[in-house]
This record gives sequence, C-alpha cells and structure tokens, in this order.
Amino acid sequence: MGQEGFSANSALLYHRHSPSALAAIEPIEGGGPSTGPATPDHPLTPRHLRTGELAGATDLVMGRHRLLANDDVAICFASASETSPLYRNAAGDEVIYVHEGDAVLESVFGAMAVSAGDYVVVPAGTTHRWVVVGSAVSVLVIEARGHVSVPDRYLSATGQFLEHAPFCERDLRAPSEPLLADGTDVEVVVANRAGRSRHVHRHHPFDVVGWDGALYPWAMNIEDFEPIVGSLHQPPPVHQTFQGSGFVVCSFVPRLFDFHPDAVKVPYHHANVDSDEVLFYAAGNFMSRAGSGIDVGSISYHPAGFVHGPQPGSIEASLDVDRTEEVAVMVDTFAPLGVTDAARSVSADGYPFTWAR
Ligand SMILES: [Fe+2]
Repeated sequence: MGQEGFSANSALLYHRHSPSALAAIEPIEGGGPSTGPATPDHPLTPRHLRTGELAGATDLVMGRHRLLANDDVAICFASASETSPLYRNAAGDEVIYVHEGDAVLESVFGAMAVSAGDYVVVPAGTTHRWVVVGSAVSVLVIEARGHVSVPDRYLSATGQFLEHAPFCERDLRAPSEPLLADGTDVEVVVANRAGRSRHVHRHHPFDVVGWDGALYPWAMNIEDFEPIVGSLHQPPPVHQTFQGSGFVVCSFVPRLFDFHPDAVKVPYHHANVDSDEVLFYAAGNFMSRAGSGIDVGSISYHPAGFVHGPQPGSIEASLDVDRTEEVAVMVDTFAPLGVTDAARSVSADGYPFTWAR
C-alpha cells in the first residue's frame, strides 16, 4: 500500500492469500451514527458538548457519534464494550485519542496495545479492528480526508525529529509481531468517499506474515508530549502534535505557567480568525474554564468569529498558582465545521452566556 500514488510513504505486505478475493459486496445503508449530516452553526453559537450524554457503548467503529465535520475532517466520540467489526477506511487517516480504558488495535500490520492518553494513527486503507480490553473504552476520533503527519517543522530534511520538537522517535510505538488469523468469508466494513460498504473476503484479511516499509499504524502517549513553556505566553503552535489537510491537532499537557512576575498565566482572550477551535477536555482541572460547566469529557466548540478566553475570576485565581495539570486535545480546522444532530442534542444550555455571569 502506498500514499499519494506511491510517491510518498508505502509498505509492502506479504499476504498468504490474494487480498482481492471477494465473495460478496453490499452497501451499508445509513452507516451508523458516524455518517449523519453536519449543518452550519447558524446562528453562530459557541457550544459545550457533553459527551457523557451520548448514547451508550457499542464498538469503536459503528458506534461513533459524529459531532462536528467539514470536508476535511470529522470529529467523533465513541464508547465501546465490544470488539469492532473489521474495518478499512479508504477515505483518509484516522487519529484515535484514547480517553478512558484499554484496547488492542489489531491490524494487518500486527497488534498494538493502547491505553488512556494514547494517540493512535491509523493510515487510510489499513484493515483493522478494535478489541476492547476490560469493560469499556472511550475515544475521541479524528477522521481525516487525507493524511495526518507530524508537523513538517519538527523534522529534518531527511525525516529525523529535530531537538526542539516536543516528542521524538523514542516516544513512538508500532505493531511488532505478525498477527495471523484463519477464516473464510470474513466481513470487512469498507469506507470510502461514497459511503460504507460490506465486503466479504474469501480469506481472513489477517494473513500478512510480515511487512516492511514506512507506512504503518503508530501510537504515542500524550504524557510523552514535552510542553514548551516561556516567561510569557507561548502561542498555540507550540502545542501542535499533528498536521492534516485543513486542520491541526494540538496537545495541552501539565506544564509550568508563564513565569514572568507580571505574566497573565491563563490564556487571554483571543480570536481564531481563520479557524474553528474544538477542545476535548481529557483530564485534570480546567482552571481557566471554572464556572463554565466544562469538565472531564467535555468538548468546547468555539467557531471563528467568536472571541473567547478565561472565565470571570480565573485570572485572579491563577495569581498564586505555578502550574496547570490539564490534559486536553485541540483540533483547529481552517474551514468552518458543521454541527450534527448528535452534537446539538448534547449542547449544554446557556454555555454561550457563561462569560457574562
Ligand atoms: Fe482558544
């Protein structure tokens, strides 16, 4: 498999059987909650989405709740108690952020154990499934239309992480041993830009005895993201973790607050002129948002055109505090996001007016 017409990263996979041997094809109508339409956020409304109010656990593929989406990216939330179907998303890469619980990503590249705080990058076209370990796992899913990579500016011309990057090769994990399974007439959910289909493969897709190349699923934990701090405010790009086509992903991790004696420690009011901002609050306490109702598991959606900042009182509350323990994942999109019915159904009443209290 190769990206961009085999002019970018690729991998050679050594199958026991023809991966083309299909026994049946059928459409998946409706396609599950991940495929609902997203409509413009009109009138312009900042939102607090309470993910805990979304319908309960199924699996990490068919149980995704699509919340915010545009032509570049869809942001979904899912909780699962059971193994997903085999799945191959040919429309783009996926970044799965594991919020709670443990899972194993089984794929044609092998198995990889993941747990809370892990970012898992699944390249487009990878046949895989999610096995839940324990009782439940919940995840934030970033479905790209295109490829996701680490920011170019973190890498040397030949692809090594530079020393100023907030993470490096040592933090990255990949599947190791081959994962082989026997079986005939095995169903695989296949997504492409036209929708979802069900393919029945004559042979189990997990028949890869080995592979080599530079294209494979990988993971890193958000705790291995080393924050860059300064005596005065560091702008959002210091938190960047991934780049995609039309969006970026940033990690906010426990760190020292700005240490100039006169520094305003909480992020001051700002306007994202060219992007919509989505923030998933993963762990810790969110001092700058105290009084807003934002808590662990919340998603805030601050569209372009809305100037946002700390809640009233949080600047004063930060004066004697040296560090923040927050863990949060941010997705900034360059094109406006649409809002789905699922997102509207869990939007907290009154959130847009919490700064005026
Ligand atoms: Fe912001």
